[in-house]
Amino acid sequence: MLRLALLPGDGIGPEVIDQATRVLGAAAARFDLAWQHETLDLGAERYLRTGDTLPEASFVHLRDDFDAIVVGAFGDPRVPSNVHAKDILLGLRQRLDLYVNLRPVKLLDARFCPLKGRGPSEIDMAIVRENTESVYTGIGGHLRKDTPHEVAQSVMIHTRMGCDRLLRHAFALARTRRGVLTLCDKANAIPHAHGIWRRALAAIAPEFPDVEARTLYADVAAMRMVTHPHEFDVVVGDNLMGDILSDLAAALVGGLGLAPSASLHPGLHALYEPVHGSAPDIVGTGKANPLAAILSVGMLLRDFGHTAAADAVDGACANAVLSGETTPDLGGNLATSEVGTYICAHVSRA
Ligand code: NAI
Ligand code: MG
Repeated sequence: MLRLALLPGDGIGPEVIDQATRVLGAAAARFDLAWQHETLDLGAERYLRTGDTLPEASFVHLRDDFDAIVVGAFGDPRVPSNVHAKDILLGLRQRLDLYVNLRPVKLLDARFCPLKGRGPSEIDMAIVRENTESVYTGIGGHLRKDTPHEVAQSVMIHTRMGCDRLLRHAFALARTRRGVLTLCDKANAIPHAHGIWRRALAAIAPEFPDVEARTLYADVAAMRMVTHPHEFDVVVGDNLMGDILSDLAAALVGGLGLAPSASLHPGLHALYEPVHGSAPDIVGTGKANPLAAILSVGMLLRDFGHTAAADAVDGACANAVLSGETTPDLGGNLATSEVGTYICAHVSRA
């Protein structure tokens, strides 16, 4: 029994999660999969109503009672501080120690690639970003804030344990793909905090002799992703390099509407979400593209061993894109729920 927690969240989050849930239902029926889900009321509405962001009881429930968490998006113009989103998303990431952030980037249709002359066979990579350390821990501070003599400091933290566990996950993933791993860092300019990544790579690479391990400075990597995207298979970076390179990579294949992600503590916790935010500008218009959320659910099915169901979901999404059965952001004229209906029909017949 696959036990899922749904956190639709704010804005278009509930609209895309509704469709992802329908697709899960269709996949479960077609492939005889036992699953159950519970929707948790967390987000801006709840915060405005009660002042709760991520109550301790909800956190414990999410930590202990589910196999995976499926998230829509958090962010609402009525909560300018975004405090609820920080507590919920960063709270889950840190407190569940979701150290792997995985974003597959696969070009489905040459139409969506901004690079001249590139096709689907040339762009297929997986960005593996360290998700708990680097300059994103909040460690740092100000001196003489808001004066001309202000000093600001954010501390970049990398632990050898953090490098090792991420690299091992990335190497194992590379084995299931084309067998090339590229570590992207700034070890030239940040020799201490990024040098540790190179030393970790050199120590771990011999455990995976079947994987080609490469290093690239992240600025060079940004350039080569544009000029030679076919050279990249598994791309590894710390929290900062991974954040930037994953957005660059997503732009190569059609942007936010098609970008799924997973945040994992392998073997313990798994959270799946579209990369996009709550898109307040299109809430309620039917223009929200549900494919990123649906592809995220495809990743979930694959991770839990439901390969045929995952293939059916991925295949249906590729089909929708290739035949133009999409929302307006991808050039189609379907509404959010119509895309969901199309995907469900394909999955049911797979
Ligand atoms: P956004 O991703 O929500 O929207 C950027 C642009 O892309 C907008 O024009 C939007 O309409 C469009 N877009 C996004 N997703 C789409 C979809 N599925 N279909 C069609 N068009 C789509 O990013 P933005 O505007 O910077 O942030 C809006 C809110 O979302 C903010 O409160 C922000 O903090 C939050 N946010 C939350 C994230 C999360 O929950 N993981 C990630 C990014 C932003
Ligand atoms: Mg980002």
